[in-house]
Amino acid sequence: MELVPTQTAWLTQALAHLDVLLLDHAHCEKKAARVALQLMHRYPAHRELVQDLIPLAQEELQHYDWVNRRLDQRGIRWGNLAAAPYGSRLQQLIRRQEPAQLLDSLLVCGLIEARSHERLGLLAAAVDDADLRELYQRLTQAEERHQRLYWTLALTYFPEVVVQTRWAELVPAEAEILRTLYPQPRMHS
Ligand SMILES: [Fe+2]
Ligand SMILES: [Fe+2]
Repeated sequence: MELVPTQTAWLTQALAHLDVLLLDHAHCEKKAARVALQLMHRYPAHRELVQDLIPLAQEELQHYDWVNRRLDQRGIRWGNLAAAPYGSRLQQLIRRQEPAQLLDSLLVCGLIEARSHERLGLLAAAVDDADLRELYQRLTQAEERHQRLYWTLALTYFPEVVVQTRWAELVPAEAEILRTLYPQPRMHS
């Protein structure tokens, strides 16, 4: 089941504020690494999960570094921005008892990767700056791989019908969160 496509208003807002978007993007990459580490921490005996998430976390830190270099090139001060509600609202969709919590965590991570993949693709196709375009293209491919990795992990621990059923619930819930565009430009809003 495919994600609901991003509305054009998001891309218009993003292209008008590429510097702010980059700063938020740096934060997203760092957060992707942190979430992978949290999962390894919570499920230390889940061998496949740990083995797959180690290289993923390393890659996300690499992305963080790449984006930080672009911040420096553009003279953007490093720092934090106010978070759009996307992440916290997705968190609320994760059920708090096991094994549902593991399934939901993997699928929500997969959703975020899928949305990142889609939006980085939109940016890669739309930005004028050749260096940024190249970065977005490279990241688009990585985030697609990450999406598949989370999906494969879900199928490692749960029957396919269970995974598909929950995914079919989460996809429209994610689209609903994105229906109201956050007033500030963010990767996920
Ligand atoms: Fe990434
Ligand atoms: Fe990723």
